[in-house]
Amino acid sequence: MSLYELIISRRSIRQFKPEPVSREILERLVSAARLAPSASNLQPLEFIVVDEAELRKQFFPCLKWAGYIAPEGNPKQGHEPVAYIVVLVNLQVRDKGYERDVGAAVENMILTVWEEGIGSCWLLSVERDKVQEMLKIPMNYKIDSVLALGYPDEKPVVEDIEGSLKYWKDKQECLHVPKRKLEDIIHFNVF
Ligand SMILES: Cc1cc2nc3c(=O)[nH]c(=O)nc-3n(C[C@H](O)[C@H](O)[C@H](O)COP(=O)(O)O)c2cc1C
Repeated sequence: MSLYELIISRRSIRQFKPEPVSREILERLVSAARLAPSASNLQPLEFIVVDEAELRKQFFPCLKWAGYIAPEGNPKQGHEPVAYIVVLVNLQVRDKGYERDVGAAVENMILTVWEEGIGSCWLLSVERDKVQEMLKIPMNYKIDSVLALGYPDEKPVVEDIEGSLKYWKDKQECLHVPKRKLEDIIHFNVF
């Protein structure tokens, strides 16, 4: 797949197959994050890979999924993510203005795994206090977000927005994701 095909075919995945993602791939995606653009090249981000089974069980309830259709969009039992990347910000390096670094790093990871046929969901709805304690994260690190990973067990589809921007599931449990039309967001030369 070309990079453009990867970008346009990517969807957030919330139902996963119970197949592990190899450490090699997990390391590769963190390396893709490592090499993302960083303002002033300060590189305030670090990453915790959570792939151990017992820890994953404790970790899963700390996340909230697909708010518009909750709880319908939750990963079903046996279809939970098989790994997580916890995105950390070292507050001693940067305590504000790091959000764009996170965006670039996480999108690099999302596309890197998608090329491997692995789906992901980027989550901001994280019970940070619980995760901070569970993973023994020092207080000078802030949890920005979590990337949940696994081989996809669903195929969400894109729709042109017709009114609502809320995604929905149909009777076959296929997720439909409305996106704004190109002609509604593009401006040439003047607004
Ligand atoms: C910054 C950010 C935070 C998000 N947080 C969550 C979240 O907490 N839970 C969740 O299920 N999805 C989360 N998402 C995924 C969005 O719901 C999803 O990107 C959106 O519905 C569009 O679908 P798509 O990714 O398939 O294009 C988040 C996405 C972004 C960019």
